[in-house]
Amino acid sequence: MKHIYLVYPDKIGTIAPEIYGHFTEHIGGVFYDGLWVGRDSKIPNINGFRKDLIEKLKEIRPSVLRWPGGCFAETYNWRDGIGESRPVRPSWWTPNDGRYESNEVGTHEFMELCELVGAKAYFAMNVTSITPMQARDWMDYCMSPRGSTTLALEREKNGHPEPFDIAYWGVGNENWGGGGNMTADYYALEYRRFATVMHNICDKKSELIAGGANGGDYAWTHDLVANLEKTSAPVHGMSFHFYTGNAKDALNFDEDEWYSVLAKCCTMDERIRRHHSYSVGKKMEDKLKLVVDEWGCWYPDGSGPSKGYNLFEQQSTMRDALVSALTLNIFNNQCDKVRMANVAQLCNNLHCLFLAGGEHCITTPTYHVFKMFRDHQGAEAIRAFGEDNDDIKKRVSVSASVKDGIMTVTLANCSCEEDTEISLDLFGIQAEGTAEVELLTSGDIHDYNTFDAPDTVAPTTCTWDITKPVTMPRASVATVRIKLK
Ligand code: AHR
Repeated sequence: MKHIYLVYPDKIGTIAPEIYGHFTEHIGGVFYDGLWVGRDSKIPNINGFRKDLIEKLKEIRPSVLRWPGGCFAETYNWRDGIGESRPVRPSWWTPNDGRYESNEVGTHEFMELCELVGAKAYFAMNVTSITPMQARDWMDYCMSPRGSTTLALEREKNGHPEPFDIAYWGVGNENWGGGGNMTADYYALEYRRFATVMHNICDKKSELIAGGANGGDYAWTHDLVANLEKTSAPVHGMSFHFYTGNAKDALNFDEDEWYSVLAKCCTMDERIRRHHSYSVGKKMEDKLKLVVDEWGCWYPDGSGPSKGYNLFEQQSTMRDALVSALTLNIFNNQCDKVRMANVAQLCNNLHCLFLAGGEHCITTPTYHVFKMFRDHQGAEAIRAFGEDNDDIKKRVSVSASVKDGIMTVTLANCSCEEDTEISLDLFGIQAEGTAEVELLTSGDIHDYNTFDAPDTVAPTTCTWDITKPVTMPRASVATVRIKLK
């Protein structure tokens, strides 16, 4: 039997709702025939957005949506996405999939999506192929008060007199790669130039996020932080991206490949600690809290319903549900260092929550995990840990938080071989003995949802008597809601 320790007096911090954020890029099928079906479509829609998806998305309380990329952002001209007549352009991704960008979804449509689902907006600014002046113009267009500037009047003419509320602007994307192949020092200087101009126009209403490292590239973080320390340019967070890359198939894997993917995703923990430590070293940890604005599994194309037509679309099995739960538990447990995270990507793409096409729209196991974890948003994280954590085969991952007299405990049993008996040991607080439980598990670890069988993987509910040991099925995720006395 394994003990899970829940130490109530040991508070870590508030779990920012933005940790439960999403990423929506103009790539493959994320928007077109995914989120967006068009206003004239026969598919039920709300001003062009797929109604079914909007309703399901609201249920998981999406806190923030990142847009328009990704790599797409670094060749995006915001002017293409406003007004009546919109140009068709090659996008960043056209060489990969031969598809052109229609610009049907632009600033106004995306902001409507945010409004429909109750999410904050996180825009990624192009810093590779536009000037700071053009960046300033986009912000002027979005955020200047009603009737105040020529661009505010143009916004009004396009149907939105009031300013848009853009909570966050990312200054570039992957500037070590697609975003200009810059060195960290060169990017830092570009950051300073753009951020100074951007901050000045937005009247301090938005927060600016500096573009960070690729996975474990700590040299990038070292150089960026050292450079930003020397400037008064405003900064409110530092991103990094980490994908659990896997050359093998999304659907066909053996037990070793189950464990290797889970072990790899758990290295997120060390990456957070090490990237964060550079800003601690420079006493910049408040300004440079981490924004993990792309994370998830990345398998070869072709496993999704479009059979490879939608670039990067992949299916999600119970293995991906476990990756989601392990990663979100890591973020909760490190909520003093992580201020935002955006799973990549929302629909028809890597590690997605929705698969859609034509009249079909289904949710993936990852969607269910986000729904099961939603009560952590804005709650107070407390110290939670289990035993045998060094061995991925024996690990039961945990995080716990408290809000409104309820302790939410989320667990992931990594073993794909054995059910595991666990005991939930509370310290420093009394609780009721019977807890409400949501459980996500499936007969086969390879199970996934399809257009024909959309509920193969779906959670069930039950109660646990937590005064005694309880059994967690192998390869499962559980949310336990404990009433505090
Ligand atoms: O999520 C797909 C791509 O992965 C993004 O555009 C890019 O930022 C990353 O390399």
